[in-house]
Amino acid sequence: MIAVIDFGSQYAHLIANRIRRLKVYAEILLPETPLEELKKYKGIILSGGPQSVYGEGSATIDPGIFKLGVPILGVCYGHHLIAHLLGGKVESGMTKEYGLAQLSIKKSSGLFAGISGETQAWMSHGDTVTKIPPGFSIYGSTADCLTAAMGDAKRRIFAVQFHMEVKHTKKGLLMLDNFLKLCKVERTWSMQKFMKRKLEEVKKMIGERKVFLLVSGGVDSTVAYALLCKALGPERVYGLSIDTGLLRKDEAKKTDALLKRAGIKNFHIYDAKKEFLSALKGETDPEKKRAIIGTTFLEVQAKVAKKLKLNPDDWVLGQGTIYPDTIESKGTKHSDKIKTHHNRVPEILKLIEENKVIEPLAELYKDEVRALGSRLGLPDEAVWKHPFPGPGLGVRILCTKKAVPVPNQAELEKKINDHLASHGLRGVILPIQSVGVGGDSRSYKHPLVIWGKKQPWKKLETLSTALTNRFTDINRVCLLLHPQEIHSVKVRPGTLTAPRIALAQELDDIVVTFTKREKIEDKVWQFPTVLLPIEVNGEVKEGVVLRPICSDEAMTAHFYKMPLPLLEKCVKKLRQKASVVLYDITNKPPATIEWE
Ligand code: XMP
Repeated sequence: MIAVIDFGSQYAHLIANRIRRLKVYAEILLPETPLEELKKYKGIILSGGPQSVYGEGSATIDPGIFKLGVPILGVCYGHHLIAHLLGGKVESGMTKEYGLAQLSIKKSSGLFAGISGETQAWMSHGDTVTKIPPGFSIYGSTADCLTAAMGDAKRRIFAVQFHMEVKHTKKGLLMLDNFLKLCKVERTWSMQKFMKRKLEEVKKMIGERKVFLLVSGGVDSTVAYALLCKALGPERVYGLSIDTGLLRKDEAKKTDALLKRAGIKNFHIYDAKKEFLSALKGETDPEKKRAIIGTTFLEVQAKVAKKLKLNPDDWVLGQGTIYPDTIESKGTKHSDKIKTHHNRVPEILKLIEENKVIEPLAELYKDEVRALGSRLGLPDEAVWKHPFPGPGLGVRILCTKKAVPVPNQAELEKKINDHLASHGLRGVILPIQSVGVGGDSRSYKHPLVIWGKKQPWKKLETLSTALTNRFTDINRVCLLLHPQEIHSVKVRPGTLTAPRIALAQELDDIVVTFTKREKIEDKVWQFPTVLLPIEVNGEVKEGVVLRPICSDEAMTAHFYKMPLPLLEKCVKKLRQKASVVLYDITNKPPATIEWE
């Protein structure tokens, strides 16, 4: 077994996910774990985290681990911590680096065996190691970070500034594989074994009770349902599908048909449109909207349970929660809250404490959930469906009562436009905000819209990363698709009302139909359409953003580079209905996939 010490990184569990792919079992532990307990592991990985090692009260580890004689690997915060504890130095860097960088390998051995020359690495950090500890040497550097990789081969301690666990670090899996070789571990983990263990755990936890599961027709809840049925028998699992009114057009009907085709029959659809609309009335704050949606789900579930006269002592609430839902909701001790997922509101946390919730997929990422779903015999249409967030269109309809001023707008826009001019582009910052993530922390900042000379997607991607890295008041960059330029932007106050929801459903349906017809469904992981409360160039209509992304497990994502002729077709269908059509060209981080 490998120990992954979780310093609160958004990606700590992704390290465990990658190690599982390499057929080794990894356990996540807190930094406070006593040294005695750490002795049983064959290797220790120190994860990233949102803090600075030199910050007061920041998380640390017993330096005794360096004397255990097992290989140790530090990633980001873990890299800083190794430098800090072993006599090196860490300082706040001038540029915060989020996104892709070219790593130049200096030594092709140890962690880097079989890797040479230049390779793509993925960064998300503000602090930098400015002096490596005695005994260490530099194994790799990037243009902005001389100490991107360091190691002491003799003691088998390696540390990297970049995140090797994310897919965008091209040779990341090979590096982890090299680390496992240094640890001399056996490769025996498999999804089959995981399933067997889970089935036993479910039986043990539920005992004589039954499960009341919230099913949405999405991948996670469908796989959770199939797993619970296999463990307990279908008669002891009751599914409830709640129509929040924030679903895609006609989705409730489609869900009914899909679940039946997937062999799930013991479920009931409850129409809760009125409950959700009235609970959300007038709310504009994204976190409050999410909390209201999560709580309303529970209230409706309790109402239905009462109607069905279910004895609360006999029933456990089941949810298809997966790992990212937990981590992004500040689900681990040292992590920062990015957003509250609908299945992580305080009422649920209380039920979890009372042992009244079962979440059989809580350790897994989407790619693993899909593998498990296939193993359970679910059809591809259920397993490979695009993910759709629990709060649905509720987080894709931006709400505001007034314009949000941009700090020093004129000065900032001038600086940005000076930067853009060399590319033949112009830009304007929108007076609204959206959620993002950077260096393991949440951000709530303004989007920048750019237009002008046509550029290849690759160039736009580099530019978008450079802009969000340099101008810290923006966390998203969007390309203007319609109209050709922006002369004026006015905020159009709006909350979650029936007409806005209907408009969002109509626009989303146009995009979903387009995605299917043009056969790009398999090329994107998810394709949100976002409604913006703004009017552009005096046209009295809302704005719309296209947000197609590519990802594996939602912790990092790339915007989809749609072929231009297709994009033009899509815009044609939307431009009558919106005053502005934008294409989000921001990766995650610094933006999140959803806008709220
Ligand atoms: P973000 O926006 O954080 O989203 O990059 C990551 C993935 O999670 C989905 N998402 C949710 N799923 N409940 C869910 O079940 C939620 O509250 C929620 N919020 C975001 C999002 O669609 C993306 O796939």
